[in-house]
Amino acid sequence: MRKPFIAGNWKMNLDLSEAVKLASGLKEELAGVTDLDIGVFPSAILLPDVVDALTGSGIVVGAQNMHNEEKGAFTGEISGPMIKSAGATHVILGHSERRHVFGESDELVNLKLKAAHKFGLSPIVCVGEKLEEREADRTAAIVERQVKAAFDGISREPAEATVIAYEPVWAIGTGRTATPEQANEVHVIIRRLLARLYDDELANGFRIQYGGSVKPENATALMAQPDVDGFLVGGASLKVDSFVGIIRY
Ligand code: PGA
Repeated sequence: MRKPFIAGNWKMNLDLSEAVKLASGLKEELAGVTDLDIGVFPSAILLPDVVDALTGSGIVVGAQNMHNEEKGAFTGEISGPMIKSAGATHVILGHSERRHVFGESDELVNLKLKAAHKFGLSPIVCVGEKLEEREADRTAAIVERQVKAAFDGISREPAEATVIAYEPVWAIGTGRTATPEQANEVHVIIRRLLARLYDDELANGFRIQYGGSVKPENATALMAQPDVDGFLVGGASLKVDSFVGIIRY
């Protein structure tokens, strides 16, 4: 019922020729895959070339972040309309590196989510607890706070068009994956919260990705969980073989 969505977050990796090579390799390897949605999220400066390289592939392209304003004196930032004009359709918001390295607040993620909807981009909103929060048994409270804040004031229709990525901070780039059960448990918490904030129909149709050290070796077990609807992949999305290996879970 929920079409899996597997997305590669390239972070601050790959130059222009490497990015185009990776995109072309994915296009070739993944031709004809239609039973799940696939997306790549290169650095903003690479968007037009990656969009070009993937034309006709069915693989969607998005940015890793955006500013909430349409334009103005915000040196170094990129806006939703700029992302769209580069041919991209998606955007990642509130990634843990944005929250914890660059100090983005729940309130800012909410403004960005509203802006993504306003400018016609499909957002992936990231949430997840830090190690000390998990150890203090605060995972549910943290994730619920992040989801509630992100969706504050967002009506049903745009909410429905959003994807959430649950990414425990302690699992990102560490090689330490959440167990399939740990991932599913939090996905269920998020889905129940969405049912309370909206309704059962929205919650049941809503896609929740898992992220944090996903690799071909753990993709099958994670995807076997009933509430895991795909992945947001960092490191393993930088090579054709490993990203395709995950997609062929
Ligand atoms: P990772 O990153 O797969 O390298 O752990 C995931 C992410 O940050 O989205």
